[in-house]
Order: sequence, then C-alpha cells, then structure tokens
Amino acid sequence: MPSHVLIMAAGQGTRMRSHRPKVLHRLGGLLLVEHVLRAAQSLVPKSTSVVIGHQAERVRAGLSGHKGLKFAVQLEQLGTGHALLQAMPLLRDQRGTLVVLSGDVPLIQPSTLRRLLATHHETSAAVTILTARVERPYGYGRVIRNGGRLIRIVEERDASDTQRRLNEINGGIYALDLEPLFNALGDILRAGAADEIYLPSLVTTCRSRGLPVETVEVTNPDEVRGINSQSELAEVRQIVRQSKNEELMAAGVTIEDPATTYVDMDVNVGPDTVIHPGVILEGRTHVGARCELHAGVRIVDSTVGDDVVVNNHCVIQRTRIERGARVGPFAHLRPETEVGENARIGNFVETKKTTLGQGSKANHLTYLGDATIGADVNVGAGTITCNYDGDAKHPTTIGNGVFIGSGTELVAPVSLEDGAYIAAGSCITDDVPAGALGVARNRQVNKGGWVGRRKAPSDQTTTGS
Ligand code: UD1
Ligand code: CA
Repeated sequence: MPSHVLIMAAGQGTRMRSHRPKVLHRLGGLLLVEHVLRAAQSLVPKSTSVVIGHQAERVRAGLSGHKGLKFAVQLEQLGTGHALLQAMPLLRDQRGTLVVLSGDVPLIQPSTLRRLLATHHETSAAVTILTARVERPYGYGRVIRNGGRLIRIVEERDASDTQRRLNEINGGIYALDLEPLFNALGDILRAGAADEIYLPSLVTTCRSRGLPVETVEVTNPDEVRGINSQSELAEVRQIVRQSKNEELMAAGVTIEDPATTYVDMDVNVGPDTVIHPGVILEGRTHVGARCELHAGVRIVDSTVGDDVVVNNHCVIQRTRIERGARVGPFAHLRPETEVGENARIGNFVETKKTTLGQGSKANHLTYLGDATIGADVNVGAGTITCNYDGDAKHPTTIGNGVFIGSGTELVAPVSLEDGAYIAAGSCITDDVPAGALGVARNRQVNKGGWVGRRKAPSDQTTTGS
C-alpha cells in the first residue's frame, strides 16, 4: 500500500508571540517542522507535501535543504481541515493512504507512525486518528466516546466543562484513505464546521456517512505534545535534551551534570569522553573518544578527534581538531580552522581559516587568520597575522619547524619557509627563506644617564605642567 505524507505548517502560531513562524522554531538543532519531516520520511512515502501559508516563503526557504518536497499554499489560514483541502490538487490522482501530520508536533516517532498505518490497514478504516491519554489535556481536542466507541472530537474552546475533564486527546496525526474519501473531502469538511474548517470534524461526518473511523493510542504521550507557546517549546526542549543526554550516557559518555549539558540531536560523542558542566554541543558536531570537554565550552558544527582536551570557555565553530590536540582555555576557533594532531592552541588565541600542522603550538595571545602553518611550528606569544588591508584578506604561509618569536606581526601576504626563525618583536613584511633568521625591528639604543637628566628639572617644579 503506497502512502503519502502531508505536513500542515501554514499556521501563524499566534500563541508563540513571535515574528518567526512557529514551525521554524529550533529544537535540538532542527526546526520543529524538520523533526516532523524526519519521522514522516522514515515511512519512505511516495510523496511528501507541506502546506505553507503564514510567511510561506520563509518556511519554504527553511526547508530548502530537503529535496523532493511538494508545497501547497494556504493563503488564508482557515483551519486544519482547510489546510488539507489546499493539498487536494497535489494528491488528486494518487491512491493509497495519506498520513497527515502537524508541523508543531515534533516528537512523533517512526514506530508510532508505522503502528498507525498498520491499524489503519488492518481495520480498513477510512480515517484513523492518533490519540493519547495525558495528565494535562488543556488546549487539545478531546476524544468523545460512547461505550468505548469514538463519537467525535471537541476542541477545547467548544467543549463543555464535563468534556474538558476528559483526558484522552487528539494527537493531531491522522491516516486517511485517499480513494473513498478524497472526492468527497471538500463536502465532508465544509459540512463539519462553520467559520474554521476543523480537520477533526472529519470524524463526525465520516460516521454519519457510515465510513469507519478508528483510533490508535500512543504508548508515550510525549510523542504527541503539541507546541503552541514558548513555554511548551521549553518543556519539549527539556524532554529532547534529557533523552539526548541519556543516549550519550548509554553509549559510554560521562556527563558530569546532565542538567547543564546541552547537546543537539545530531551530535555524536565517543565513549569515555568526559563532559564537564555547562558544555554546549551544537549542529553537526562529532566528538571522538576519550576527550575531555571542560566547563563552558561551546562547539558548533565541528569535528573533534580522539583524546582531545578542550579547556574551559572555548568557542569552536566549523573547525576540525585532530587526535591528541589541546585547546584553550579561552580560545576562539572560528570557521575553517584545522588543528593538527597533538597541536596546541592556548589561552586568548583566535583563529580563522587557518591550518595548524601536527605538533605545532600557538600557546598565548595570538591571532591567526588565513594562515597555513606546517608541523612543529612554535608561534610565540602575541603573534598576529595582519591578514586584512582594509579591502582584502591575504594569506600567510608558514613552513615546517618555523620558530616565531613573541610579539611578531606577519604582514600578509607573506611566507616563512621551512625552518625559518623570526626574532621576537619583528614586523615581517617580506618572505623569509628556509633556515634564515628574519629580524625586522629597530636596534635598541641605551642612552646612559637619561632618566636622571629628565628628572632634574621636575624636581624644582613639582607641580609639573
Ligand atoms: C489541533 C487540533 C486538536 C489537536 C491538536 C493536537 C484542530 C482543529 N484541532 O489543535 O484537536 O488536539 O491540534 O496538537 O485541528 N495549520 C495550518 N493551517 C491552518 C491552521 C493550522 O496549516 O489553517 C497547521 C499549524 O501550522 C499547525 C497545525 O496545523 O502546525 C495545528 O494547528 P494548531 O492551530 O496548532 O491546532 P491546535 O489548536 O493545536
Ligand atoms: Ca498545535
């Protein structure tokens, strides 16, 4: 049985009180709608459509990394049933089952969707609805039953006090059969509700037409948590974060304080790595085995090899750190940095678009930008690549085994060949050949007795001027 997927993502999300469309809020490093999409794609559907409307182009752009999606635009957001109707032209000639998901219900799991589909097929229902029993049903549509049989779904705002006390809710995820239903869908839905076209009213109208409607209850009610407000987003974020920490700990990672450890969904960490409090690992970050990430480290979209130590309070973005390297404390590795095996980056060092070769060291107070640095190089304290002339960036090339004395300025473009030695305090503007000493500073002059001579007049006029 081929299945198709439809994700409803056109709503504004008024209750978020945000200019950002609701489905574009981030959770564990993915957009809300990307969580839904990921679960949906595990079904390997024949087609995946997304209904967009509020800030449609922004939502479409947010999903531009996902190929093969079809979009239906719901110009006016007249309700979830109306959203489904907008997708009719995309699905008109299709057969099989349509799985409808809400873009703001991000924790839904593939196994639950498969169970929904299995029940839908086994019972030959026209519509199957995912439900849950929850402690706090506030805000959700309530499932009304009579003698166990589903009668209808009542929205919070339309429910009586007695109905509001019911704790079985509509999860906002549905399986429905395209063939018997689709031609009549418009009529069915429009008949169901007046000003807003509710998708759940499909239940009532299907029943009155003698079309069977089924339900499947989720085992873990968290899977159908809908996000309508910032505080619900924070609650769900907590669930996602905790489960990621659990996953890492189960794989042998030591997390000293899970309450302050923030790891995005797609991050991997190898066994016996120790994560100290307050560490944040974002995006597509991979950390190897036996690493030590000290307190306050933030790593974004980076790859860290095995046995790496990152000391406290480093910010590392789009960087690659090879095995055995040490970084920080207080280092800022900006995009396109590569730190070689066993290399050292010390405190108050900033790098950008820079490769530091195997075993090389930049231990203190240094800026390295647009630099290619070989192996076993010593970059002295306070070395600065002057890579920017106000218009353009220029490269610095440093060979293997180069020694750069402290307080050196390297005015790019410039190249220091293998084994070159730069005297401390130099301002290097010309290339230095292999094995040569580069000195670029004024000779020191000592003026004997100068201090005494300077002081003498001021001894008489103590107020100075
Ligand atoms: C909906 C259900 C409710 C269910 C709950 C589960 C309806 C009428 N109610 O309520 O029974 O318990 O989800 O989370 O369906 N959307 C559109 N176009 C629209 C309106 C909404 O695409 O015109 C999208 C939204 O972007 C959102 C989803 O549909 O992703 C759900 O809409 P929302 O307004 O959040 O519905 P709820 O009030 O949560
Ligand atoms: Ca919702």
